[in-house]
Amino acid sequence: MKKSIALLICALGATTAHAAEPNGRALFAIHCAACHGTDGEGDGPVAAAMLITPPNLRTLAARAGTFPAETIAAYIDGRTQRAAHGSRSMPVWGPFLEAGEDESSQAAGRARMAALIEFIRQLQYH
Ligand code: HEC
Repeated sequence: MKKSIALLICALGATTAHAAEPNGRALFAIHCAACHGTDGEGDGPVAAAMLITPPNLRTLAARAGTFPAETIAAYIDGRTQRAAHGSRSMPVWGPFLEAGEDESSQAAGRARMAALIEFIRQLQYH
């Protein structure tokens, strides 16, 4: 119930927002492509120098059976760590993408994360 009210407020905010919609492709290019590659295939310029190869983000849906949007969001913002594999090599993005002091900057942060996830969804091979 609480969640649906929050979603409703979100939706209302989105229709009345003056700021431009965040662009998932641009966010990905700026923050993620260095490692994951422009199209998410794991071939960014930094990848060669890393001990752990950045995974191909285009096979997420195929590997999970369905596109794991929530799992991905939790991994990107750092709510989940790779417990089974010990430490992680990927930076935690939550503080940057989602954090905000007030309600409107938090909403903007959620919109950035949603745009990023939607871009990754569109990258899926199927
Ligand atoms: C410094 C290099 C680097 C950057 C920058 C980076 N990643 Fe990663 N990413 C990795 C590595 C390496 C992994 C493999 C797991 C680990 O070691 O953390 C990974 C794992 C992932 C996973 C889990 C994939 C799977 O197969 O389970 C997702 C989703 C992801 N990254 C998305 C992103 C997004 C979105 C951004 C930008 C906001 C980003 N990454 C920025 C290196 C990076």
